[in-house]
Amino acid sequence: MLLTLTVNGREVSRNVEPRTLLVEFLRDGLGLTGTHIGCDTTQCGACTVHLAGRAVKSCTVLAAQAGGAEVTTIEGLSGDGLHPMQQAFIDHHGLQCGFCTPGMIMACVALAHEDPDMTEAQARERLVGNICRCTGYNGIVAALMDGAKRMAGDV
Ligand code: FES
Ligand code: FES
Repeated sequence: MLLTLTVNGREVSRNVEPRTLLVEFLRDGLGLTGTHIGCDTTQCGACTVHLAGRAVKSCTVLAAQAGGAEVTTIEGLSGDGLHPMQQAFIDHHGLQCGFCTPGMIMACVALAHEDPDMTEAQARERLVGNICRCTGYNGIVAALMDGAKRMAGDV
């Protein structure tokens, strides 16, 4: 089937199998390998992208379901400079492994849009869908909270 959608602001059309997952389409079809595959079973969040402005786990969405929609990956997040959430991850040492980070940042941007004034407890709870397996969440949570304020223009 011919699939047409907008990815990172650019319209693309490709022939895909109906069973093709969105993450496969992004990585293998478009070469956007910043979106990672950690579990392939909706557990880890490494594959998080934005679909029509909402965070989704792209290992759990068929590419066909994104037809006609707008998808943003980590490659499309920044403009002229880094996105405020990317800078917050740098400043708070939230970049610990590189494997989970793209999905973590995409999830954090969506969470920040939903609630820029979240408490630390809320931030920790809302990151439940994105797993850090290495060193811990302190830097990530700090980056989420500060990045949310930067996005809202509060700092
Ligand atoms: Fe999609 Fe883990 S690879 S949630
Ligand atoms: Fe990526 Fe912990 S920061 S797994």
